[in-house]
Amino acid sequence: MINVAVIGCGYWGPNLIRNFNSLNECKVKLICDTDKNRLSYLSGIYPMIKTTTRYDDIINDSEIDGVAIATPVSMHFKLAKKSLLAGKHTLIEKPMTSSAKTCKELVETAKEKNATLMVGHTFIYSPIVRKIKEIIEHNDIGELLYISSRRLNLGLFQKDINVAWDLAPHDISIILYLINQEPIAVNCQGKSHMNTGIEDVTSMSLDFSSGGFATIQSSWLDPNKVREMIIVGSKRMIVYDDTQTLEKIKIYDKRVETPPHYDTFAEFHFSYYYGDVYSPYIKQEEPLKIECQHFLDCIKTGSIPETSGQDGLRVVQVLEASSKSLQEGGARIKIADI
Ligand SMILES: NC(=O)c1ccc[n+]([C@@H]2O[C@H](COP(=O)([O-])OP(=O)(O)OC[C@H]3O[C@@H](n4cnc5c(N)ncnc54)[C@H](O)[C@@H]3O)[C@@H](O)[C@H]2O)c1
Repeated sequence: MINVAVIGCGYWGPNLIRNFNSLNECKVKLICDTDKNRLSYLSGIYPMIKTTTRYDDIINDSEIDGVAIATPVSMHFKLAKKSLLAGKHTLIEKPMTSSAKTCKELVETAKEKNATLMVGHTFIYSPIVRKIKEIIEHNDIGELLYISSRRLNLGLFQKDINVAWDLAPHDISIILYLINQEPIAVNCQGKSHMNTGIEDVTSMSLDFSSGGFATIQSSWLDPNKVREMIIVGSKRMIVYDDTQTLEKIKIYDKRVETPPHYDTFAEFHFSYYYGDVYSPYIKQEEPLKIECQHFLDCIKTGSIPETSGQDGLRVVQVLEASSKSLQEGGARIKIADI
């Protein structure tokens, strides 16, 4: 039996509690929040789980093997450092921390302590995202040309991070997973309308080492909930709409073909190909449940998580570059300079 504790029982923490609680070989031994109201609410649902307002109760409990951290981002580093130093396997919600420097420190500490360090890039465990990866790897869409992603809605406004740090970790982690190249530079522009200094709308672009390209739009100020990623290949294109309940991905057999060489401009025409659209059947499973099971499996086997501390660092490097670019009016910021 693996004993797990969850710290942070606001919006997301209860989802971690529910999923860990549903898994065999796992017991949620203790949950922690500084807000007593949240603890008494959760005690009503899970009377068998002990609660505490003191994080040190988790740290000092030698029976707790794994800690899941779902507090605001500004607390992630401090809490994760303590957990790892106590030799506990640690799952940190996205984004891993608020700086690349502190992410690197956690990666080092986990190595020294021989502890599992995992980051909650939940979409990497989504059967839909895995299917898209499979389609790309089977070369079904041809050469991957670019990805564009939009994650928009009205609120929830955060106080400690801008909309890119809040929403774009999902897009960045999916894009890095699908493109499978190193991001080399980031441009980002944005505006704060509601809270001075905290952008509520941003537009980011990423350049990759082997020519890959991606754009990400994030907003807390949009009338519609949009969760859309478009993956454009040289032969086919995929539209992933996560707001759909059934047909979340559609593959468009559409492409533009460049003509052979002509001598005169009059003879030069692109040819546009319009074929079928199809939506593959994908068995739905809750990504967070798969993620929680993966955390337990990594604890048991000692294997490196699919969303490791190193992956968390790569996402935070992009976010940090985006903040620097925002400060410099959208300038191109090289990841190597972060
Ligand atoms: N993976 C996902 O899809 C996903 C989705 C939503 C949020 N998240 C992430 O989860 C984390 C939490 O987000 P949220 O929306 O639940 O935030 P939230 O503000 O709703 O909840 C945070 C909770 O942490 C508690 N808290 C703060 N400091 C604490 C401390 N020192 N000790 C104990 N408790 C403390 C607060 O009282 C609050 O109840 C963030 O990192 C966020 O990015 C991930």
